[in-house]
Amino acid sequence: MAASDLFDLSGKIAVVTGASRGIGAEIAKLLAAHGAHTIVSSRKQADCQTVVDEIAAAGGSAEALACHIGEMEQIAALFAAIERQHGRLDVLVNNAAINPYFGSILDTDPAIFQKTVDVNIRGYFYMSTHGARLMAKHGGGSIVNVASVNGVVPGHFQGIYSITKAAVISMSKAFAVECAESGVRCNALLPGLTDTKFASVLVHTPAILKQAMAHVPMRRVAQPSEMAGAALYFASAASSYTTGAVLNVDGGYLSV
Ligand SMILES: NC(=O)c1ccc[n+]([C@@H]2O[C@H](COP(=O)([O-])OP(=O)(O)OC[C@H]3O[C@@H](n4cnc5c(N)ncnc54)[C@H](OP(=O)(O)O)[C@@H]3O)[C@@H](O)[C@H]2O)c1
Repeated sequence: MAASDLFDLSGKIAVVTGASRGIGAEIAKLLAAHGAHTIVSSRKQADCQTVVDEIAAAGGSAEALACHIGEMEQIAALFAAIERQHGRLDVLVNNAAINPYFGSILDTDPAIFQKTVDVNIRGYFYMSTHGARLMAKHGGGSIVNVASVNGVVPGHFQGIYSITKAAVISMSKAFAVECAESGVRCNALLPGLTDTKFASVLVHTPAILKQAMAHVPMRRVAQPSEMAGAALYFASAASSYTTGAVLNVDGGYLSV
């Protein structure tokens, strides 16, 4: 394969969850820029369509398909639609996640616990089972799980969220091992603090930001576009012998 083809996704079908904004939107745009027909998904169809329009304006191919990944029927419906319309899937980026509770782990409300687990673990898990089955029908594909540095070092007052992200790291390895023979690879990307709506309180509160950056060797937060290259690497033939890997994209945070 020519070096220039390593990141080529022409003819591939990709789906990115949580792609209406932030990290997911940047990943969707980069996959489309490299030739994938990219399915932009989140709960809100209209917001996904805005990203689709941006991709189309840049010459890429994309469509919007809403899916709440905390709802099992919506996951099944998403994959039924993908199979009906395209008959195949090559790349799944599990990126949509929630972090609804900031506070003492001892006070975690059971409803919040359940909601976080339903989206961040069950959602990623059943997106992956559906995705891996569809990929395997055509020789394989790549699952990219967006986890977090908090899956390795728990975020203060972000207990249940951190626990779900540790589960995503473990899940990536479990799928990698069991799906390798069917040609499906599965890897995890661990963002550090990134300037998105998700992290806006941390990023835009100067005292919190200063404290957080004291632990980041590069001394700055990431831009969402800085996560996309790692996702493209995992999605493409550039990583053809890589599965079960965990890639920190964190300005050095986990190396200290
Ligand atoms: N930002 C950070 O500092 C940081 C650090 C480490 C890891 N991460 C991880 O990076 C990923 C993306 O986060 P982000 O910072 O880009 O967040 P963001 O800007 O808030 O975007 C979150 C996306 O997920 C969608 N979403 C939320 N709940 C959903 C659900 N139940 N089903 C489907 N889609 C849903 C949202 O769209 P709708 O509202 O339309 O559904 C949106 O597109 C997450 O997995 C997060 O844990 C972020």
